[in-house]
Amino acid sequence: MFPTTRLRRLRYHPAVRELTRETRLSSSNFILPLFVRPGKNLREPIAAMPGHDQMSPDLLVEKIREAAELGVGGVILFGIPAEKDARGSDAMSDEGIIAQAVRAAKQAAPGMLIITDVCCCEYTDHGHCGIIGDSTGRMDVENDPTLELLARQALVQARAGADMVAPSGMIDGMVGAIREALDGAGFSHLPIMSYAAKYASAFYGPFREAAESAPQFGNRRGYQMDPAAAAGQAMREIELDLIEGADIVMVKPALPYLDIIRMAGERFPGVPLAAYNVSGEYSMVKAAAERGWIDEKQVAVESLTAIRRAGAGIILTYWALDAARWLAEI
Ligand code: PBG
Repeated sequence: MFPTTRLRRLRYHPAVRELTRETRLSSSNFILPLFVRPGKNLREPIAAMPGHDQMSPDLLVEKIREAAELGVGGVILFGIPAEKDARGSDAMSDEGIIAQAVRAAKQAAPGMLIITDVCCCEYTDHGHCGIIGDSTGRMDVENDPTLELLARQALVQARAGADMVAPSGMIDGMVGAIREALDGAGFSHLPIMSYAAKYASAFYGPFREAAESAPQFGNRRGYQMDPAAAAGQAMREIELDLIEGADIVMVKPALPYLDIIRMAGERFPGVPLAAYNVSGEYSMVKAAAERGWIDEKQVAVESLTAIRRAGAGIILTYWALDAARWLAEI
C-alpha cells in the first residue's frame, strides 16, 4: 500500500511506459473495407464517411496497392452493382461487379489478401440479406432458400480469385453451406471468416449509404442479433459457426460490444477473432473531429487499442490506412 506501493513508478518515464505496454497494434492485423461500383475512373465520395469513396475497379486497385505498401493485412470488398433485383443476381454472376473487382485486384496486387463479403443486401432491390418471403407471416428473409444464393456467391468470388470469403448475413447454416460448396469445387483451402456474432445495430447507418443497401421495408432484426440478448447467445452463434467450418470468427460492431469480444476470446482460445469497427463508430469520430471537439488520430488509436486489448487479433477498420501511417510515425 501507499507509500510503499506507487503505481506511478510504472508511468514516470516514457521508456518504462513503453516497456510495460502489452497491447500493440500492427497494420498487418488491419483489414480495410472498400466499396466498388462499375465504371471507369469513377470516384463517388461517401458523404457520411469522409475519406471513403465508392470506386470503379481501376481506382480500387490503386487503393489496394497503397494498402499493400503500408503493410495492411487485407482488404474486404463490397460491390454495388449496376442493377439490383430480388435475388441479387449480380453477385452470382462471373461478370458481376464483385467478380470483376476481385480479378482486377488480384492482377494489380497479387500478394494482397483479398477478402469478399458474402451477402445479398448490396445486390438486392429490397436491400435485405436474402430471399424475401412471408412463410413466418412477417415478410422476412427466408432462411434455407437463401443458403443456395450465398453458396453461389462464394463460388463466384472464389473463381474470381478471392483469398477468403466472409459471410455477413446471419443466416442459420450459412457457413456450412458455403464450406460445402467451396469444398465441392476445389476450394477446400479457402478460409471462411464468419460474421458470427453480428448485432442488429444502428451503427451500420453510414455503411448502408456507402453500399446503398438500406432495407426498403422493415429492418434486420429477424436475422441479426438483438443487442439486449444474453451475451451467451453470441457464444452459441460462434460455436455453431465453428462447427460448420468457420476459420475466423467476427464480432460486430466492436466498441459497443467489447464485452462480447472479451468473452469470445476467453471461450474460444486459439480461434482467430476479428472485430468490425463499423461505419458508425468511424463517422461519429470524424464528425466530432471536424468540429474540433476531439482529436481524430488519438481517439482512433485509443479505440483500436481497446478493441485489440479486449481480445480481437484482427480489426476491420475504415482507419486501416491512416492507422498504418500513424503507427509508422510513432
Ligand atoms: C451486410 C454488411 C453490413 C456491414 C457489413 N456487411 C451492413 C448491414 O448489416 O446492414 C456493416 C459494416 C459497417 O457498418 O461498417 N452485408
